[in-house]
Amino acid sequence: MSKRFVIGTPLSASATRVMLLGSGELGKEVIIALQRLGVETIAVDRYPNAPGHQVAHRAHVINMADGTALRELIEREQPHIIVPEIEAIATGTLLEIESEDLASVIPTARAAQLTMNREGIRCLAAESLGLPTSTYAFANNLDELRAVIESDIGYPCIVKPVMSSSGKGQSKVDSKAEVEAAWNYAASGSRVDQGRVIVEGFVCFDYEITLLTVRSMNVDGQVETHFCEPIGHVQIHGDYVESWQPQPMSSVALQCARDIARRITSNLGGLGIFGVELFVKNDEVWFSEVSPRPHDTGMVTMCSQVQNEFELHARAILGLPVNTALRAPGASAVIYGQLEEKGIAFTGIGEALRVPQSDLRLFGKPESFVRRRMGVALANGIDTSEARIRAKLAASRVVPIKPGN
Ligand SMILES: Nc1ncnc2c1ncn2[C@@H]1O[C@H](COP(=O)(O)OP(=O)(O)O)[C@@H](O)[C@H]1O
Ligand SMILES: [Mg+2]
Repeated sequence: MSKRFVIGTPLSASATRVMLLGSGELGKEVIIALQRLGVETIAVDRYPNAPGHQVAHRAHVINMADGTALRELIEREQPHIIVPEIEAIATGTLLEIESEDLASVIPTARAAQLTMNREGIRCLAAESLGLPTSTYAFANNLDELRAVIESDIGYPCIVKPVMSSSGKGQSKVDSKAEVEAAWNYAASGSRVDQGRVIVEGFVCFDYEITLLTVRSMNVDGQVETHFCEPIGHVQIHGDYVESWQPQPMSSVALQCARDIARRITSNLGGLGIFGVELFVKNDEVWFSEVSPRPHDTGMVTMCSQVQNEFELHARAILGLPVNTALRAPGASAVIYGQLEEKGIAFTGIGEALRVPQSDLRLFGKPESFVRRRMGVALANGIDTSEARIRAKLAASRVVPIKPGN
């Protein structure tokens, strides 16, 4: 259990220090939320000038999968709280840090370790907790993959590296002829050269949601679970392009989704926000995966909630109360780099912001790729349909251009 913290003065002996492991667009917003509460922030990423580096008290560039480098930095900076923002971290080192009581790991080192590998979290969810999931199997090579699809999973199915995120190395397989290509693609997209994949039966869902679930402390020091309104989203090639809140659900499906989210998050434990990904068909709900941190589809909460997912995370990890109430229906639409270039510029920002009730976040990433997420447009509306139209319109008006143009 994380301790309750008094908040000190940043850059003084009393400072409350929080270290972000991963400082992308989600980490940047967590840092901003922490800064507003007077917390001293330390941003870590694998490349210089990452979005969170630009707003933190101190910035470091290390390979976070290197346990020795990670430990050395933690010992030097002595954070009270460590907040993993990405999956590719030496989680063995986090387990040591936690057991030596050097810092609190959010939500727990075990949660970071289990969720960085699809195998760990899927076995916990399906086998230990008995939560409904797609059918699944694991394979270490092409022959094994062929065999488990033929004998257990069938077509269509989805092949994913066990260590990957944002849809990297993931493909849908409709027939026998496509299995080899899926294996090769997974091998190229794996975060570490693990050569192990999960193959999942394809769930023909009506819609999918992220149920943001917050574990925070109540006035008696007990952990309570709070749920945000469900977030609907659209994924292309396993990467989110659009999200909105609230996603309407039947009361049976909502109850079921909350039960699943409560069970998986209480098992993972600790304090903070979790993005629980679920598939829904009529009243039936399947657990897909969970991130023990803010979720990319949850960026919509920057316009749709009283406290956005980053503020909720910051408050929860500090032992402070949270409010998960909706403020207004909202939507988010991703702005892609569209160029392979460093130091790009954006035009059309004024036009984008002329869309009623819209807002923008440009993340400040130093290098653009065609499909890299460089920003997000946000919008409110009378309902989520209006909000989605506005967010997409605003996003489409932002045009990345080469530097010097
Ligand atoms: N078994 C499945 N059946 C149907 N769609 C799936 C399945 N697994 C993944 N997807 C689709 O692919 C997306 C990304 O998959 P996910 O497992 O969440 O990978 P990542 O960790 O990269 O986010 C999901 O949000 C969903 O749209
Ligand atoms: Mg996902």
